[in-house]
Amino acid sequence: MIAKGAMLGPDQPVIIHMLDIEPAAEALNGVKMELIDAAFPLLKGIVATTDVVEACKDVDIAIMVGGIPRKEGMERKDVMAKNVSIYKAQASALEEHASPDCKVLVIANPANTNALILKEFAPSIPEKNITCLTRLDHNRALGQISEKLYVHVSDVKNVIIWGNHSSSQYPDVNHATVSTCNGQKSVRELVGDDKWLDTEFITTVQQRGSAIIKARKLSSALSAASSACDHIRDWVLGTPKGTWVSMGVYSDGSYGIPPGLIYSFPVTCEKGEWSIVQGLKINEFSRGKMDSTAKELIEEKSLAYSCLN
Ligand code: LMR
Repeated sequence: MIAKGAMLGPDQPVIIHMLDIEPAAEALNGVKMELIDAAFPLLKGIVATTDVVEACKDVDIAIMVGGIPRKEGMERKDVMAKNVSIYKAQASALEEHASPDCKVLVIANPANTNALILKEFAPSIPEKNITCLTRLDHNRALGQISEKLYVHVSDVKNVIIWGNHSSSQYPDVNHATVSTCNGQKSVRELVGDDKWLDTEFITTVQQRGSAIIKARKLSSALSAASSACDHIRDWVLGTPKGTWVSMGVYSDGSYGIPPGLIYSFPVTCEKGEWSIVQGLKINEFSRGKMDSTAKELIEEKSLAYSCLN
C-alpha cells in the first residue's frame, strides 16, 4: 500500500525500511523480493534488515507494527510486559537515528501505552510526533453506520473514538453526520434508534478486534494496514475541510482528559500538524464513557511502568 501511494499520495516517491527479528530474516528477504518484483514506480529503495539502527536511520515516518500479537483468549494486558520492553528499545534507536522530525505511528498493542513508553524513552522526538492508531476503530464505526443506514461509507463522517484502542474505547456518534441529497443530516436522527446507538453499536465497534481474531484466528490485517495509511495520509496531507478523524495523541488536558496519557481524540490536520477539535458538547453519557476509558489508560500506564522495573 505504501509503495503504491496509498499512504503519501500518488506523486510521492518512497524508500521503505523494514525491520524484523533475526528468525524472520529469510521471510523478510522474501518480502523484499516481492517488492522488487512488483516494480512499483514510486518505490525508490528498500532496506530489509534485522538491525534496528539500520532500520531507523534517517526515517521520516516510523510505523511501529512490531510486537507480540494477541491470540484468541488472550487479554491485551497479557502482551503488555513483552511489548513495553520492545518499545523501550526501539524508542532509543529512533531517538538516536531517525530524522529529528520523525512522525511515529504505533499500531502494536497495547497501542496507546506502547506509544507512551516510546515517548518517554525518545524524549528528543517532539511529543506531537508520537501517535497511536485508532483510525481503525474510527473506520469501523463509519462502517457500522453505513451498514445500518444503507448509505455509502464515504457519506458518513465525524464519528469520534475517545480513549484507548481497547474494548473500553468510546465510539461516539453524537456529532456524526451523513451527506444526503437534502444536505448533512445527523446520524442520530437518521438512525432513529438511540438504544441501538448507545448499546449494540458501541459494543460492536469495541469488540471488533476480538471478533476478527475469533473468526480469522489472527488479528486484523488488511483493515489495520489500510487505516494506518489513512492515519498518516491525513496527518501529512491534511484532513478534508469540515471533517475530523480520530487519532491517539498526547493529551493536553482537552475535554478534561488527564495530561500524560496517549488518548484518542477527534483531530483535524493541516500542514503536517494535528489539532484536537475543541468545543464539542459532551453529554453525561459520553462523559462517563470518556472517563472510564481514561481510567483504563491510567491503570495501563502504571502496569507498563511496573513491567519496566
Ligand atoms: C484490532 O483492533 O483489530 C487489533 O488491535 C486486535 C487486538 O489485538 O485487539
